[in-house]
Amino acid sequence: MLRTHTCGELRDSHVGKSTTLCGWVHRRRDHGGLIFIDLRDRYGLTQVVIHPDNKAAFVAAERVRPEWVLKIIGSVQKRIEGAEKADSATGAIEVAVETLEVLNEAQTPPFEIDQEKEISEELRLTYRYLDMRRERLRKNIELRSKVFQIIRKHFTEEGCLEIDTPCLIKGTPEGAREYVVPSRLYPGNFFVLPQSPQQLKQLCMVGGLDRYFQIARCFRDEDLRGDRQPEFLQLDFEMSFGTQEDVQKIIEGSLMKILKECSTKKLRGGKVERYTWKQVMEKYGSDKPDLRYEMPLTDVSEIGSGSGFKVFEDALGKGGTVRALRVPGGAVLTRSEIDTWTELAKEMKAKGLAYILFKDDGPQSPLLKFFKEGVLEKLQAATGAKTGDAIFFGADKFRIACASLSKVRGEAAKRFNVIDTSIHAMFWVTDFPMFEEQDDGSVTFSHHPFTSPNPEQWKNRKEKPYDVHAICYDLVLDGYELGSGSIRIHNRQLQSEVFDMLGISRDDAERRFGHMLKAFEYGAPPHGGFAYGIDRVVMILAGEPNIREVTPFPKDQKAKDLMLGAPSVMPSKQLQELGIQLKEAV
Ligand code: AMO
Ligand code: AMP
Repeated sequence: MLRTHTCGELRDSHVGKSTTLCGWVHRRRDHGGLIFIDLRDRYGLTQVVIHPDNKAAFVAAERVRPEWVLKIIGSVQKRIEGAEKADSATGAIEVAVETLEVLNEAQTPPFEIDQEKEISEELRLTYRYLDMRRERLRKNIELRSKVFQIIRKHFTEEGCLEIDTPCLIKGTPEGAREYVVPSRLYPGNFFVLPQSPQQLKQLCMVGGLDRYFQIARCFRDEDLRGDRQPEFLQLDFEMSFGTQEDVQKIIEGSLMKILKECSTKKLRGGKVERYTWKQVMEKYGSDKPDLRYEMPLTDVSEIGSGSGFKVFEDALGKGGTVRALRVPGGAVLTRSEIDTWTELAKEMKAKGLAYILFKDDGPQSPLLKFFKEGVLEKLQAATGAKTGDAIFFGADKFRIACASLSKVRGEAAKRFNVIDTSIHAMFWVTDFPMFEEQDDGSVTFSHHPFTSPNPEQWKNRKEKPYDVHAICYDLVLDGYELGSGSIRIHNRQLQSEVFDMLGISRDDAERRFGHMLKAFEYGAPPHGGFAYGIDRVVMILAGEPNIREVTPFPKDQKAKDLMLGAPSVMPSKQLQELGIQLKEAV
């Protein structure tokens, strides 16, 4: 090693000892003839002091600039009285420099490393290796590493094998667009990067490996959001001969350990709660509500029918629903705030966002003139709205009314600061519908097509496809979907029936999933599993607003790697080798 100690290591007890440190120049100060340098590495900062009597070192120290890499040899001494820094681990000591060697010079960095101020994200992503020298990202990467360790230990102790699965595979239907990789040896043929190791982990169960886990890299070419990256990590888990409860217990165990070791916050209710999909949708309008605050929705369909307000009556006439959200203190909302929320509701496909403000001088709303007598009072009683509050309404198909009000619920919680950030709220959501109706009226899967349906409800699938529940379960933490899992289909006949329901023809199923169907014919055991997004867990623990902050080398919001400059144009020779001809020359 070039050094004897790190820059975070020296204490009072080292006083009088000789030391060799290596690190980056965090800050240099010239003081009354002395030069002070804060030398920095991953472990901390140590103040080193260069006396003018030491000519060679002093001349060298006069030249150094921020981010130069130095090696210094010196002796540890107590700082003079009054110069100690209680907030720094090495604040009691300093190192008197005997020799100073410049290991490397550095250009002036594009942003200041020694200050935790806001810097444009574009710059931080372009120079990610410089951003890593700053405390915020370094701490997040350390936390991430700790989470990896806890996961590895937990799942190994649960008897799982850590099994790596390939990244060059065949398409997996998990709902997102896939990244494809052209094959040079088979022009016109493509590998697909896994959206998740779903099929491979199931095949490991057919292979008798019994319990699997992997910290798996997954790829999805979907629209990006703060909690989505084109590539991300899942804790991926699968077990044979286990029930939904068995899977949940093992997953829960890992997250409880992570929370215990990496968070000071308590869990709401002291445990991981459980709700059915219907319960959370009815009460909060979302399958991943943030339960660090209450603000429930109320079903006011009965009051809405015959209320005199056409919007409500029309929605109900078409088999829809009318839901209300009481926002405590909401009467102070301005017209422009309500307009902004209305736009958000419309993004969720709502046609509008009706509201009533309960002002001190009486209720205020465009709906009052339509309401028949007593309607206002009934709405107020049903929602518990008091003077000073507001009620917002969603009148539409169940899912749209819920989605729009749930969006408003989230905005209201932020606006009125009601989120209890001193706790975590974690819960299971079970009994999801097996299928969802797409905009064009066709049937699609809610989770993925390998999920077992509830056997009783399956019998009536033809008549009531949307009443069939899947044996699948999500885990929600602080309003984020942390993960999903299910008990899988292990029977060829049932798998074919599911493909039939999804409108996947026999030929298509054979071509896309023939390998799965075949495997099910060779003694596939009952099995199930789960996967959670590790980046999301770390983001929540770190209190960061998005997963880019906890990903060492993230893509930006337009799915580009600004540091590497990827994606990039391929030389035509390489394209030729791959048998690829571009439609338009780039
Ligand atoms: P699912 O598609 O729900 O399930 O993904 C599981 C979890 O992975 C995380 N995640 C993401 N994180 C960051 N960026 C993304 N683009 C992204 N997409 C998903 C989320 C999500 O809850 N194979 C199944 C699991 C199973 O059934 O065992 C699957 O992948 O936290
Ligand atoms: P309108 O009759 O279209 O002028 O709408 C009157 C009020 O009801 C406005 O505040 C609209 O934003 C709201 N609104 C319209 N359609 C809906 C709907 N489907 N759900 C909730 N509010 C709505």
